[in-house]
Amino acid sequence: MITDRSYAVEPWCVRETRLDLDVLAQSESVFALSNGHVGWRGNLDEGEPHGLPGAYLNGVHELHPLPYAEAGYGYPESGQTVINVTNGKILRLLVDDEPFDLRYGRLVTHERVLDLRRGVLERTCEWTSPAGSTVRVRSTRLVSLTQRAVAAVAYEVEAVGSTSRVVIQSELVTNESLPDPNGDPRAARALKSPLEPEEDVAVGRRLRLVHRTKRSGLRVAVAADHEVTGPERTTIDSESNVDVARLTVTSVLEPGECLRVEKLVAHGWSGARSRPAMSDQVEAALAAAGHSGWSGLLDDQRAYLDDFWSRADVEVDGDEEIQQAVRFALFHVLQAGARAEQRAIPAKGLTGSGYDGHAFWDTETFVLPLLTYTAPGAVAEALRWRQNTLPAARERAAQLGLRGAAFPWRTIEGSEGSAYWPAGTAAFHVNADIADAVVRYVTATGDTDFEAATGVELLVETARLWRSLGHHDAQGTFHIDGVTGPDEYSAVADDNTYTNLMARANLLAAADAVARHPDEAARLGVDVEESAAWRDAAEAVHVPYNHDLGVHEQHAGFTRYQQWDFAATRPDQYPLLLNFPYFDLYRKQVVKQADLVLAMYTCADHFDEEQIARNFAYYEPLTVRDSSLSACCQAVIAAQAGHLGLAYDYTTEAALMDLADLEHNTRDGLHIASLAGTWMALVAGFGGLRGDREGLRFAPRLPERFSRLAFSVQLLGRRLRVEIGPDKAAYTLLSGSPLTIRHHGDPVLVNGDGPVVRAVPPVPDRPVPRQPPHRGPNTR
Ligand code: BGC
Repeated sequence: MITDRSYAVEPWCVRETRLDLDVLAQSESVFALSNGHVGWRGNLDEGEPHGLPGAYLNGVHELHPLPYAEAGYGYPESGQTVINVTNGKILRLLVDDEPFDLRYGRLVTHERVLDLRRGVLERTCEWTSPAGSTVRVRSTRLVSLTQRAVAAVAYEVEAVGSTSRVVIQSELVTNESLPDPNGDPRAARALKSPLEPEEDVAVGRRLRLVHRTKRSGLRVAVAADHEVTGPERTTIDSESNVDVARLTVTSVLEPGECLRVEKLVAHGWSGARSRPAMSDQVEAALAAAGHSGWSGLLDDQRAYLDDFWSRADVEVDGDEEIQQAVRFALFHVLQAGARAEQRAIPAKGLTGSGYDGHAFWDTETFVLPLLTYTAPGAVAEALRWRQNTLPAARERAAQLGLRGAAFPWRTIEGSEGSAYWPAGTAAFHVNADIADAVVRYVTATGDTDFEAATGVELLVETARLWRSLGHHDAQGTFHIDGVTGPDEYSAVADDNTYTNLMARANLLAAADAVARHPDEAARLGVDVEESAAWRDAAEAVHVPYNHDLGVHEQHAGFTRYQQWDFAATRPDQYPLLLNFPYFDLYRKQVVKQADLVLAMYTCADHFDEEQIARNFAYYEPLTVRDSSLSACCQAVIAAQAGHLGLAYDYTTEAALMDLADLEHNTRDGLHIASLAGTWMALVAGFGGLRGDREGLRFAPRLPERFSRLAFSVQLLGRRLRVEIGPDKAAYTLLSGSPLTIRHHGDPVLVNGDGPVVRAVPPVPDRPVPRQPPHRGPNTR
């Protein structure tokens, strides 16, 4: 139950009006700024107190040995962990000999605002030192969406009431000491001071540090430049040593006088480039940032976001909290993917070190759908990253005795990072999820160059995997045995319905793509027989169904298992994975997260409305939602089955996952998939959006709380706006040529002549399914 809110409810920002040190780490995630390449947690400017200091560069990681009690063939030996790189956001302040530290003295006011339209984090506070000097501090921070390497801070201190001697130390700090994140001593050892110094420079107002990771051999360069404005008697010095470069600005301020430092910070990393090349790279990025200047960076940030919001905004009338939450979600998903440019989009984005900074299927299944219809360029980049990692995925497939490519369950640089294979490597569905993202992107954009250069190869190598992983039985039926689906409370099972249907789509898409791109097919060595074999396997894929119950099986035999004893499970025993052995979870009917229910969304054509309602009613009482990825999927199918109140409750849970810290781990970073799931719940749930080669379908229906829901989607160079009220939906073509979509199954031609309005049909009357005891949606 959400009982307390840390943030005021406002449509375009997230405002914290009081600093609560008990939830500092959570707020650092919520206030994180990123562009997908550089990520700065919302740490206080002065560095301390902190929950978890964090500055990340997408892809920069360190390696460490993976622990196994018992060895086995094919277990990954090396783990990858994101590291905290050189921190460029620190500005320390000394007021009349006393450090500005919020734990001492008196904090008169303290406010932080994440402005979703300007893309900045603003902070204002008034503080009286233990000796009685009062200052006002204002800072504005941004991570530039237009200059990928650049972040910046404008920091201002004003004397209040009496003359103050103030010193601002603007720093670059490497190898900050961190709280031990996961208690694994081997990982902790590898991560203690992960960066070895190579260069430190302080010249005038410019600072630079270059370091290199010990095992992964990645070079990290960070440089800063400063503009200082203050009274005439202001002095400036700079110095550096191996792990700290510092600019010191000293002044005496009369009451009302200000000292202002604008700090531009440039970042770069490489596994190949030399130290001089990296130094030059960050100096050049700094020169470009200086050319724009602080106000130019602010203007560009606003313009970038104005453009994004014009394409991506979702408007919700009747529920201010959801309105704020969906914009917060869109903003953070954009931040995670906007400039990742051929790097992964990790499960936490660049907002924290949770999950060791790894990327999972979360990217393709939850994040990329949103970006496909709002910022498609980022999708192509994310999928190019997968293509770049094909050598590792091919090697992994070969190691497993399979053909094609086996993409990792979790990774930073492309190799498998999961030490627990039943819920890692065995979750082969990630391969079909990648293929699905390729198909969705190409269908939505018509980007045939991408399909030829990237899509075909990804589709072919994943199709090869499925063909070698599955087999035809004596009757010709195609089975994929011994795999793990999305529900991690079932593992190494036969014919997981989600996996089989997704593999089917993958095989067919690959066969279609090679027919469209014969040259690519020839280059990849695909002949007619091979693609015919893909079609044969796809057409013959087994989809387990229990005819007595009239429901699809999550995997073959699932509905025969003993039911989990929900009545005997106490509320404090959730999440089950921390309180019961996997052995027991695996052989009972209990579902961690939407699996068959997700299949009904991603493979919508395979299920009719009645099956969807029956399946949902069957799986809902078994689903405990021990993963934050579940609520949004359940919202989508609940809405489709007509359970709009339940869908609303799940939407709320997905939307408030981080703003209300529902899983008590927002401190480790945001749940990017759940944030993206907020869009999914609204647009695919209440909007009923489904897309395939036939075009877009909508089946809008609003929950009672909403009086209006409006959103836009981009499709094949067009922009379509959808506006839904309680009884009617209006479709407006904002740009591009006419288009036929479907509204609750009926074709609707939308041209540029203004909105086309259709009635929303009544909701089918069905009993609302129940959840396991204590596992109802986490609502207000
Ligand atoms: C979920 C996975 C997910 C991972 C990262 C796990 O708890 O079960 O499906 O990929 O978290 O978000």
